[in-house]
Amino acid sequence: MRTYTNVKDLGDLNVAVKEALEVKKNRFGYKRLGENKTLLMVFFNSSLRTRLSTQKAGMNLGMNTMALDINQGAWKLETERGVVMDGDKPEHILEAIPVMGNYCDIIGVRAFARFENKEDDYQEKILNRFIKYSGRPVFSMEAATGHPLQAFADLITIEEYKKTARPKVVLTWAPHPKALPQAVPNSFADFMNEADVDFVITHPEGYELDSKFVRGAKVEYNQDKALEGADFVYAKNWAAYAGSNYGKILSKDMSWTVTTRKMALTNNACFMHCLPVRRNMIVSDDVIESPQSIVIPEAANREISAQTVIKRMLESL
Ligand code: CP
Repeated sequence: MRTYTNVKDLGDLNVAVKEALEVKKNRFGYKRLGENKTLLMVFFNSSLRTRLSTQKAGMNLGMNTMALDINQGAWKLETERGVVMDGDKPEHILEAIPVMGNYCDIIGVRAFARFENKEDDYQEKILNRFIKYSGRPVFSMEAATGHPLQAFADLITIEEYKKTARPKVVLTWAPHPKALPQAVPNSFADFMNEADVDFVITHPEGYELDSKFVRGAKVEYNQDKALEGADFVYAKNWAAYAGSNYGKILSKDMSWTVTTRKMALTNNACFMHCLPVRRNMIVSDDVIESPQSIVIPEAANREISAQTVIKRMLESL
């Protein structure tokens, strides 16, 4: 595997989940694979789970691991060509990337949407430059339009907790004080559309996601109706995608918060969220602390999704 940016990079999804569950049972069984190999994690944005779980995954595989926080201690990077660099950015990303590539064997990149230019975000300008210029296998640790390590961990978690062969999985928008990218819901939809689940997306009008990710999923604007009979409720906020509203907050409607009343509409559903989560905005204290909440095992599976992806990359070196 040379790149990991979306569900297609995993090939057969059933095989990938089976492999992940094998990795989970025997996470130290592949230590020789990473011997004398170095994993570099490059962060343009903050992280708790991704940083720790990916580093742990690399260590499980016997790798040396390094992390670079671009905004803390590195030179500020210019990302545009043709700019006269007489401002506060002393280094160009087109030199920085191949230099980083020289110091490692595999690179993970976190570079969120900036909401300055929709085209730049949806063309994955930063991530694709790492793919093009680093000379190394590159995986996304959440980019502008996707968070495939999260979605893979989510699918593994659903596989572990499902009580029926084809569960109903509902992705619901929920309110948030800040404008958040669409990366997590995009990738979740990307994966659920390929998985053997009954997938429904619910959000207020105006929050439609890119049709490239929604594909054939059912979109229901009435949250209560969408939640009826759900086996999994996946809550997430995102800012508007469509048209000139890109990156804007259109609603903070607290009636979309996932509460005990909302969960009572479901088939005793498991509650999921990628974390970090704003309590009593996205989800009530009662729900996230309930036995139905599986946010902690979901986060734990981030180590497994990362290890499975890095293992495949090591096998292809
Ligand atoms: N879910 C997730 O990616 O968490 P972090 O932003 O803390 O890495």
